[in-house]
Amino acid sequence: MKFPDWLTYIQQRTETALQAVLPAANLAPDRLHEAMRYAVLGGGKRVRALLVHGAGGSFTHARPEQLDRAACAVELIHAYSLIHDDLPCMDDDKLRRGKPTVHVEYDEATALLAGDALQTLAFQALAEYSVSATVAGQIETIQLLAQAAGSHGMAGGQAIDIASAGQELTREELEFMHVRKTGALIRAAVLIGSRAGEGVNDDRRRRLDLYAKRVGLLYQVVDDILDAASDTATLGKTAGKDASRGKPTYVSLLGLPEARRFAEELLAEAHDALAPLGERADRLRELADFIAHRAS
Ligand code: IPE
Ligand code: IPE
Ligand code: MG
Ligand code: MG
Ligand code: MG
Repeated sequence: MKFPDWLTYIQQRTETALQAVLPAANLAPDRLHEAMRYAVLGGGKRVRALLVHGAGGSFTHARPEQLDRAACAVELIHAYSLIHDDLPCMDDDKLRRGKPTVHVEYDEATALLAGDALQTLAFQALAEYSVSATVAGQIETIQLLAQAAGSHGMAGGQAIDIASAGQELTREELEFMHVRKTGALIRAAVLIGSRAGEGVNDDRRRRLDLYAKRVGLLYQVVDDILDAASDTATLGKTAGKDASRGKPTYVSLLGLPEARRFAEELLAEAHDALAPLGERADRLRELADFIAHRAS
């Protein structure tokens, strides 16, 4: 399958799997369930799901249904992080995926609770379905997701992001923040994919992890670039917010041309990490290119 067709195929599989995992909108409490479905369904590039399938489909003998379930768990955590990221106490954003943000469409309390419930649903989804060949692999998957979402990962990065508004960070501090707030969950998507099905040997695992770390940082560097260089209609979220809120980003630190150069450097490092892995890493190569050169 050509990459664009595979992209659409995995995006559709993920949508169907998420539909099934989410509570029905007519189940009580229906406003909460509606808000959860509103946040998760019908939008998003599903990059984290693509990474789970890209790693798991090529490097393990996992069944596609196992990868769907793991991909759902990662996307549920991501959707929760976006709801909370958009709240007035965080980035105070009104537009997400081309629609009003959850607290605008519903209300703040519902948005907070929808995020909470999506987070626990992610772990429930992993606990209720075998996503790995072994019990140890299953537990490791749960541990990887918890670590990536918690105070050493996404939530920790978000805490630094909020505390850093209006301040200048050093390059080291900026990387520390970005690796956590966005990089950790992207990395987890690759690692979780590569732990599904049969075991991946240690050398491959190290290579995949190196790739995952570079692509994770790259993801947020490109998000910073797009915030500064793209427009609201293309992004489906308000452009120019980082500068208006005084967020330290790779663009504020380095300027656009140098931030773009750094993104290409990270992309090259991601490719280097995969170099010895041959053709089976092609999907991950295509995904790295997609992440670096995406329009939104
Ligand atoms: C946006 O993530 C927030 C970041 C972590 C950079 P995505 O760009 O993956 O958002 P969707 O899921 O495609 O909407
Ligand atoms: C978001 O970073 C990181 C998350 C953990 C959600 P941003 O605040 O830059 O994401 P956008 O630009 O609002 O999507
Ligand atoms: Mg933010
Ligand atoms: Mg934001
Ligand atoms: Mg951003």
